[in-house]
Amino acid sequence: MANERNERIAVYPGTFDPLTNGHVDIIQRGAGLFDRIVVAILVNPDKSPLFTIEERAEMAREVFADEPRVEVDLFEGLLVEYARQRGAHAIVRGLRAVSDFEFEMQMALMNRRLSPDIETVLMMPAESYTYLSSRLAKEVFSLGGSIHGLVPDLVEQRLTERLREHNDA
Ligand code: PNS
Repeated sequence: MANERNERIAVYPGTFDPLTNGHVDIIQRGAGLFDRIVVAILVNPDKSPLFTIEERAEMAREVFADEPRVEVDLFEGLLVEYARQRGAHAIVRGLRAVSDFEFEMQMALMNRRLSPDIETVLMMPAESYTYLSSRLAKEVFSLGGSIHGLVPDLVEQRLTERLREHNDA
């Protein structure tokens, strides 16, 4: 399972609006299993995210600036097509709880049907992140709750700035 440069590459796709420490945990675990893990942020015009795709990519790049095995990229269209273009043979996804399982299994099996040579690897984050999602982090933060330790410090900083911009507007 390696590309022509003999590298084992995995793609970790998602929305990442914004990156949480649960995502960071999965990326670090993936970086331990593969030569390179590509954090692939979906360009999705249907969603109205809090952070633009460029902002999300920039935050992720900053968080992993010292980690040569982690690359951050954007993609649109079919995930398996993007994975193929990148020479990846695996798709990494995090599995927090049983409630995630049904959707993840559907995606994994659909992706396998589309591209049988790309394997999905489901990984469990640390227990302390099993209840964490970008959506909940944004909601708690916007209502004044603390999310310290649940998102990277720089993401917390950007959320503070974004909230201030919204309140000033
Ligand atoms: O962070 P998310 O929103 O759970 O990520 C979902 C994502 C980006 C992995 C999924 O929507 C996706 O792969 N979209 C790309 C389009 C595609 O390939 N769809 C078929 C998946 S079976």
